Amino acid sequence: MSAPAMDVLVSLCKRRGFIFQSSEIYGGTGSCWDYGPLGVELKNNIKRVWWRDFVHQRDDMVGLDASILMHAMVWKASGHVDHFTDPMVDCRECRHRFRADQIDEMDWTHYCAATKGNKFTIKAGEPCKHCGERRTLCPHCGKGELTAPRQFNLMFKTFMGPVEEDAAVTYLRPETAQGIFVNFDNVLQSTRRKLPFGIAQIGKAFRNEITPGNFIFRSREFEQMEIEFFVNPHDRLEDRPADEVWHDRWIAECQAWFARYGLAADNVKLHEHGREELAHYSKRTVDLLYRFPMGWSELMGIANRTDFDLKQHSKFSGKMLTWFDEERKEHVVPFVIEPSAGVDRALLAFLLDAYQEEEVRGEKRVLLRLHPELAPIKIAVLPLLKKRGEIVATCHDLRRRLTRRWLTLYDDTAAIGRLYRRQDEVGTPYCVTVDVKTVGDPDKGEPGDGKVTIRERDTMQQLRVPIAELDAVFARLLDAGAPWSEIAAAYPRAES
Ligand code: GAP
Repeated sequence: MSAPAMDVLVSLCKRRGFIFQSSEIYGGTGSCWDYGPLGVELKNNIKRVWWRDFVHQRDDMVGLDASILMHAMVWKASGHVDHFTDPMVDCRECRHRFRADQIDEMDWTHYCAATKGNKFTIKAGEPCKHCGERRTLCPHCGKGELTAPRQFNLMFKTFMGPVEEDAAVTYLRPETAQGIFVNFDNVLQSTRRKLPFGIAQIGKAFRNEITPGNFIFRSREFEQMEIEFFVNPHDRLEDRPADEVWHDRWIAECQAWFARYGLAADNVKLHEHGREELAHYSKRTVDLLYRFPMGWSELMGIANRTDFDLKQHSKFSGKMLTWFDEERKEHVVPFVIEPSAGVDRALLAFLLDAYQEEEVRGEKRVLLRLHPELAPIKIAVLPLLKKRGEIVATCHDLRRRLTRRWLTLYDDTAAIGRLYRRQDEVGTPYCVTVDVKTVGDPDKGEPGDGKVTIRERDTMQQLRVPIAELDAVFARLLDAGAPWSEIAAAYPRAES
């Protein structure tokens, strides 16, 4: 299924409280984003399942939460001060700034001499079909000459302490990885781990990107979920160097993880870095690409960083960063396999993949087919009639009870059809509706049947389930991951 246009998703995210532009009332900062009430739940769910699957459920992983501000030498040792740069060019006319390596991938503005100077927007890389010219000037204004490329460091500089002097300079971390490397020995000593083992971390990273854009795909403040997996380079597995085998294993693990939480196989592919693309620390890097609306782009990277980082930090700090191999009676500097994912990019991909429009009884239905574990709200409790006190009271009781285990929301601000559509649009997998039959009619002396309607988002099927069995039903659906069909086989359909 093809992804929606980015502006459709941006509009849904704003309208329904997933993502807002940062500082919007001041005109906004195009490169930073704020997560609203639903966005923060979705983001937390992504981080929670990633941590559970890769840290808690494995016996070869531990976690870490290092500080964002680190010793300035960390960035000298890691190579970021000298190498974490992008080549940039400026337009001498309109002052727009571009990444030199991306300029040929942009549509360009052209004033065509062959058509009395008419203005055209021409597709990236194509010549003008009237005069045959290719782009040489600024792609934005079409008039200015471009400067020669200059290297621009992407790290945000700041000062530690009250004096703004060179000695106090430090940086906001551009990746979480270095916090792991500098704590390698602390973790080793405190946990008595043996190779191979990994350290995971989730946290903010900052890059002064020259051309941020495509919504939350590239921003200046973002979050990473990173693993540094330490392997003994002298070990062999399956008749191959252990680091190479672990690299392949992590590539497969990461691909399977994104598939498990909903990304369609057609929308994800691997990209093997060529020699010229490899970072200075990498022996081999494979990216997982996602088919974003602007084209195939990096969702995450899985690199074999060799022993580069530990050796560099050892050299710069004077501390030995090794593991003692009891069998071979030698100190080894482990090789590192690094699966590194962006939380915001993962969230964007999950939203794009989940977005679907369809026609139901002549009306457009928008739904987010989010995996139930990722969905911000798990259950919505809705009254069929908000004027009936017993119905509303039963709804509130149910919401209070269910939300202890699964985030549950109550809504009575529209008629039931509209309430269902609103929940579909934000990906709520289940709605529970309380109606007159549930509570009965005391005026007529009619007892209630104590049953509610559960509606499933994707199929829109409705089942009649006793209130007393709701917790057990949701435990099967939301905790045990049982398919809806299993529940549908056990309960009668509700009359709609
Ligand atoms: N420690 C390795 C590292 O940081 P990277 O490829 O530069 O590698 C890893 O970044 C991931 O972080 C990317 O695959 C992407 O998901 C995310 N990421 C990087 N820069 C980003 C940005 N400016 N905005 C949002 N996410 C970004």
